[in-house]
Amino acid sequence: MVFPMQALLAALAPGEPDFRLAQALDPSRIPRHIAVIMDGNGRWAKQRNLPRVAGHKAGVPSVRTAVETCARLGVEVLTLYAFSVENWKRPRTEVETLWQLLRVYLRLELPTLMRNNVRLGAIGRLDALPPAAQAALASAIARTSANTGLHLSLAINYGGRAELVDAMKRLRDSGVEITEESVSEHLYTSGQPDPDLLIRTSGEMRVSNFLLWQIAYAELYVTETLWPDFSRTELLRAILDYQKRDRRFGGLGAAAAITR
Ligand code: FPP
Repeated sequence: MVFPMQALLAALAPGEPDFRLAQALDPSRIPRHIAVIMDGNGRWAKQRNLPRVAGHKAGVPSVRTAVETCARLGVEVLTLYAFSVENWKRPRTEVETLWQLLRVYLRLELPTLMRNNVRLGAIGRLDALPPAAQAALASAIARTSANTGLHLSLAINYGGRAELVDAMKRLRDSGVEITEESVSEHLYTSGQPDPDLLIRTSGEMRVSNFLLWQIAYAELYVTETLWPDFSRTELLRAILDYQKRDRRFGGLGAAAAITR
């Protein structure tokens, strides 16, 4: 079997440190879904005496690197927390810059998404976004809809509790029996595997209302690195760390099962 992650090795020079990290990965245990809380942009800017929005701008190349690396590794879904339902509380100029950045990102990154066969999607209460951001998003989603590789899902105006409320309302209106399966099917992430790995940058030990239902069994990886400094090396280290974990899903796990 040829594993998709060969694409990453092919893109790296054998002398590069990332080549050795990529070689150390078990290609049969690449997480199917990686979710990321991209945190620390503000602190990155503060450390440099720059305005907070400079930190958000500096976070865009890290988005590109994460997307390209996940696409080359054969990850199925990458969900990035770009804007939470709580982020409206920030100063208006910061919020407006974030919408502007989203539009610039979608315009400039489209060739990268196409080259890497990435299909774009978005989750959240998208109808509350400024019309120009909604239009840019809809256009990029349509233009990448025939791609068959990584599904890049941007969580925008997203809240885990809001998502559960929306799912419950739709379930109530449909009259469908409430089961774990039917709840999952009514979430924004319907049809996707649950995240295997949840990465949070900047050291905060919180899940911040992100994919609350879906991360029930996710492995958590928190790094002190601030999002603009989150490199390919960091991402490969996070996946290597994930591969060392014994995922038990409430059972006894492989090692315990053998020695019973
Ligand atoms: C959290 O850092 C980050 C955000 C609220 C926005 C994330 C946006 C980007 C990475 C750039 C654009 C992304 C896309 C997908 C186009 P923070 O501001 O809370 O940092 P702090 O905790 O240090 O203040």
